[in-house]
Amino acid sequence: MDFPMENVTILDHPLIQHKISILRDKNTGTNEFRALVEEIAMLMGYEALRDLPLKEVEVETPLETCMTPVIAGKKLAVVPILRAGLGMTGGVLALVPSAKVGHIGLYRDEVTHEPHEYYCKLPSPIDQRTIVVTDPMLATGGSAVAAVDFIKAHGGKTIKFMSIIAAPEGLEKLHKAHPDIQIYIGHLDRQLDKNAYICPGLGDAGDRIFGTK
Ligand code: PRP
Ligand code: URA
Repeated sequence: MDFPMENVTILDHPLIQHKISILRDKNTGTNEFRALVEEIAMLMGYEALRDLPLKEVEVETPLETCMTPVIAGKKLAVVPILRAGLGMTGGVLALVPSAKVGHIGLYRDEVTHEPHEYYCKLPSPIDQRTIVVTDPMLATGGSAVAAVDFIKAHGGKTIKFMSIIAAPEGLEKLHKAHPDIQIYIGHLDRQLDKNAYICPGLGDAGDRIFGTK
């Protein structure tokens, strides 16, 4: 994989790196894990949304009237990939409370590692929105590619994909399938193991967020 890759940003801010290290620790419990996933999503969202367009509006301060910038143009939609992507939704909504939320339900077959769709609902019309897709893990990339395929098939155009940890295999697959979307990663890990888990990774993100096994 050649770096830097166009449209791929590794968000290596020290706060993000520190929080990811706590996520990796197998002794980090569900409460702390869930809170950290949300905090990391907020920090990543802060960077991923820095190109949101602004427009000037008139505001009356207690002293005088001034022109001042507010977010303009396209509205936002957050689209978590279920389940684990749900854990990141609150972090993005904390930044943009007016965002609409869509859901894409995908689970990975344990043997083939292929994604299977079980639920999809997007805010309509989706083509007018900037869409932030969230999933903490980008492993083989199958789920991410399927999610973005679905969003594009429903008219989505401006798409940002945020993942806390990626494997090189998954990042390459997503970038090749959808070179037009912006991809934001917290950390690029070494590789996938034979079960398509990210190494060193953090284990099963969904199970750790929701306390299931
Ligand atoms: C995990 C993760 C991603 C997917 C990544 O979900 O949250 O959606 O695996 O793997 P991939 O890149 O190889 O597709 P999982 O299928 O375990 O479902 P869950 O979130 O419901 O636990
Ligand atoms: N899904 C996860 O939750 N973790 C991995 O390492 C790979 C896929």
